[in-house]
Amino acid sequence: MHAPQVAALFAPFRLKSLSLKNRIVMAPMTRCFSPQGVPGENVVAYYRRRAAGEVGLILSEGTVIDRPASRNDPGIPFFHGDAALSGWKRVIDAVHASGGKMGPQIWHTGSIVGPNPDWEPPAPVESPSGLIAPGKPRGVAMTDSDIADTIAAFGRAAADARRLGFDTVEIHGAHGYLIDQFFWAGTNHRTDGYGGPLIRHRARFAVEVIRQVRAAVGPDFPVIIRLSQWKQQDYAARLAETHAAMSDWLVPLVEAGADILHCSQRRFWEAEFPEVDGEDGLNFAGWAKKLTGAATISVGSVGLSGDFMKAFGGEASRPVGLDRLIHRLEREEFDLIAVGRAILGDPAWVTKIRNGDAAGLKDFDPAAFAELI
Ligand SMILES: Cc1cc2nc3c(=O)[nH]c(=O)nc-3n(C[C@H](O)[C@H](O)[C@H](O)COP(=O)(O)O)c2cc1C
Repeated sequence: MHAPQVAALFAPFRLKSLSLKNRIVMAPMTRCFSPQGVPGENVVAYYRRRAAGEVGLILSEGTVIDRPASRNDPGIPFFHGDAALSGWKRVIDAVHASGGKMGPQIWHTGSIVGPNPDWEPPAPVESPSGLIAPGKPRGVAMTDSDIADTIAAFGRAAADARRLGFDTVEIHGAHGYLIDQFFWAGTNHRTDGYGGPLIRHRARFAVEVIRQVRAAVGPDFPVIIRLSQWKQQDYAARLAETHAAMSDWLVPLVEAGADILHCSQRRFWEAEFPEVDGEDGLNFAGWAKKLTGAATISVGSVGLSGDFMKAFGGEASRPVGLDRLIHRLEREEFDLIAVGRAILGDPAWVTKIRNGDAAGLKDFDPAAFAELI
């Protein structure tokens, strides 16, 4: 049984072939613990602990597709090649054996610089227009054949996710990485069919990735895409300034075959359009659900006093209550909630929430980034 005040978090969820025992998703978090791109037994045990700790759906750290410059750090796992895929097979088998569900987050880092700025991939860094940020060149602009090969590689990764037994797959389309570099006018200056003045023009690359992924996994396998307005390059950047622009961005993604939109915010309780909707207005996941009818995942500072950007700056956070989250879940603003640092720092976080064990909740100490707890 769960504590009565958190009932909304422990309602089951079903979509196509995916059925979850609760609404809590482990947010995708890059950990860089996979030398040569291969997740080993420490990574298997890390995810197994989250499954045993009753996380409803685990999303893996970003794991990269088969392109020579798809990652920006040597500790990021591959999602291609026999060695890495057998590592991931051990992960999903362990998660299933502990009663969990999981999808890999498939990724291409585009032209973003990784945590070790001196490390370079074995081929030129690639992005839509050879820019890391507006006016800041890095690497090369992708040719038509680079684009076609990248879309095909996303499709192969999705097919592998299904073949290995994963329950879903998430495409990383957020935070200023490759797919988001196509969305963003600041980094997409293309004059071919992959660029253009409107967000729906710049969404074409993502649409083709989703179509390829859908074709690879079949109709009944849920496909998630992660999206954000903000970018690491510019936290204040917005792809959609109005409800209409957001619809122009998201509806084509759902029509292409995305089942779940994972809407990344730093703080889940912040209204997406406060200037028109007021401070208690729908958040990003709320608007995405309303405009598309698709299921959505929200995220951002659940259960903790500080946000994750501050954590990267070394700031610790205290546990905080979930009343605001429960309120938004009860009004069915979004379907699922992703939790990052609270679960990174404590594999038993969900069990503690279910039991109402507030005293057992831990502070989040950024020292946790250095190990797989
Ligand atoms: C160490 C770390 C690594 C992250 N790596 C990724 C990633 O690979 N993919 C992604 O979409 N988001 C990534 N994020 C963002 C998280 O998924 C999440 O959106 C963010 O931490 C906010 O949730 P929280 O406040 O509950 O931590 C990362 C966050 C952290 C703390």
